[in-house]
Amino acid sequence: MQPKEVIFVDYSLLWLDWKPKDGLPEYVKRIVGTPATRQGKAALRELMAGLSAMGAETEQCSGKPDDLPAIRLKEYPGQDEKVTLRRSGDGMEISGSGQGLIYGVFRFLRHLALGEAFPEWESSPAYPIRMLDHWDNDDGSIERGYSGPSLFFRDGRPICTERTRDYARLLASCGLNGCCINNVNVHGNALKLLTGSYKRELRRIAACLAEYGVSLWLSVSFSAPIELGRLETADPLDPSVRQWWRETCGRLFAELPNLVGFLVKADSEGRPGPHSYGRSQAEGANMLAEAVSPFGGKILWRCFVYNCTQDWRDARTDRARAQCDHFAPLDGQFRENVYLQIKNGPVDFQIREPVSPLFGHLEHTNSMAEFQIAQEYTGQQRHVCYLIPMFREVLDFHLEHRAERDTVAENISAICAVSNTGSDFNWTGHDLAAANLFGFGLLSWDPSADPELIAREWTILSFGADPEVTDTVSGILMRSRDVYEKYTAPLGIGWMCAPNNHYGPSPEGYEYDRWGTYHRANHLEIGVERGPEGTGYTQQYSPGLAAMYASTEDCPEELLLFFHRLPYAYRMKDGRTLLQRIYDDHFEGYEEAKAMAEAWENLEDKLDPGIYARVRERFREQLRCAAEWRDVINTWLYRLTLIPDEKCRTIYP
Ligand code: GCU
Repeated sequence: MQPKEVIFVDYSLLWLDWKPKDGLPEYVKRIVGTPATRQGKAALRELMAGLSAMGAETEQCSGKPDDLPAIRLKEYPGQDEKVTLRRSGDGMEISGSGQGLIYGVFRFLRHLALGEAFPEWESSPAYPIRMLDHWDNDDGSIERGYSGPSLFFRDGRPICTERTRDYARLLASCGLNGCCINNVNVHGNALKLLTGSYKRELRRIAACLAEYGVSLWLSVSFSAPIELGRLETADPLDPSVRQWWRETCGRLFAELPNLVGFLVKADSEGRPGPHSYGRSQAEGANMLAEAVSPFGGKILWRCFVYNCTQDWRDARTDRARAQCDHFAPLDGQFRENVYLQIKNGPVDFQIREPVSPLFGHLEHTNSMAEFQIAQEYTGQQRHVCYLIPMFREVLDFHLEHRAERDTVAENISAICAVSNTGSDFNWTGHDLAAANLFGFGLLSWDPSADPELIAREWTILSFGADPEVTDTVSGILMRSRDVYEKYTAPLGIGWMCAPNNHYGPSPEGYEYDRWGTYHRANHLEIGVERGPEGTGYTQQYSPGLAAMYASTEDCPEELLLFFHRLPYAYRMKDGRTLLQRIYDDHFEGYEEAKAMAEAWENLEDKLDPGIYARVRERFREQLRCAAEWRDVINTWLYRLTLIPDEKCRTIYP
């Protein structure tokens, strides 16, 4: 007997690898409706393919609908992202624009795969812009990439491969609708993305993405008029500069119908920007916004502006303050097609930071939350670290600026994450890191989505429905952030990682450097005082929050050392000294990481051998590294303070 046709791909389809399913409802045998748009057709194709993979024999019935049980696809005109799933006779109906149908079909397939009761769902995404930012370089490397080479660039050129379409499917299937394909630090040939040199490649990428309603964004260099246009200046108020951008945008937007706009890192970590010309961030952003506006374009303007050449002895300059100091006074000065892109915390994607106070200062300016699912500081996709609970905490945070609509989620108008994807077989290096991609998508659609439910859903879709697997894997995911925090840098201290590559411990690695990321530990005290008597950072929050953070009593303990400089003998709420708490966290964190690894090993018989083995290897590395963190940090603190661990545990066992 001939085997059934098998499609070989040399990469995983992650949660879209639909498995045969018993007990499918009768109505899945017929699909009624013939969508007309490109996205609508993609939705139909996904539905047919998904049902077939689950074992249904489905036929598409064109012509007049009859009364037989069926899935009815109703496509409405327009670009609206709203989607409705509802009962219709003995069957069901999925309705929306072409793009809405895509979301509806993926949602419906998920329901079937999860074996859930009939889905009634009427939903619109919380934000019109929900995207991934790729920090991919033209040579195929990825800045902070931990999952193989770039999906979008190879040997100095953009590439569209067999994976580009599946990438778009993955994004759309979890509700994302955009991606910026090149690094915010624009170097080398990436500069030429603006010139038309790669028109053909970009058009192919854009077309693959567009089929699934995923828009294309490009990172651009603020000084492109000098680098590409041979002008002598990039001054945003200079007429020749403005003209250059207008002409460049006119050509580019005509060539790339799916282009939505630009992402700009200006005046940040050595990148050019308006400050070089004595102009404000608003003048810089607005100049670009004006150039893209005839094409409905948008500008994502990053707020990661700070002094990266600080003399560490200067204790008055506090990097945490920088974004508010630069941007809060400019509220209301940005054009309506500018979105200020703000990292979730005030410094840089540490495992624990307070929420950026800048979110509370933009009453009249669009803002966008920037998260990082690339695990730069959170284990680099060698450690398991499920970030969705942390993102949810940020989105739920009350800024206490207004009586209503006061949370971060309610204040922002767009959302993005630095991507964790690359060309590895499993897309994200660590198989469990795909939960961050899936989860970020779901949360960007609905910021009130439950991280634990997401973890459970993702586990079932990825590894099958065995309850022990679901409980164990989702349990590992849900514990993973706290565990990572304990063995690395608890209490909000941050920045004890190795300089540059940001992996593994180096408690003084950044201490005498220029980056403004100091914990200022000496033999008596540790932490930075950020209350009114210190750098005054706490005052960037509304009065209630400012008072809470400024008080050592009221400050949430998990952020104590972010906000305060304290002696090692400081008593924590449970009576332990601060130092003992840090020692304990490091020991416990390692033990908890070990327990997670053991829990994984218990699943050996229940998992696909490839997945099992890959994750087991990652856990081995996580444990090696967690032990290193524990021992290096505890040794260093002991040497510094000469105060021993009360429990006399062995270091370097
Ligand atoms: C971090 C990261 C850099 C990145 C920067 C940014 O500092 O280490 O690689 O360029 O953030 O967000 O622009």
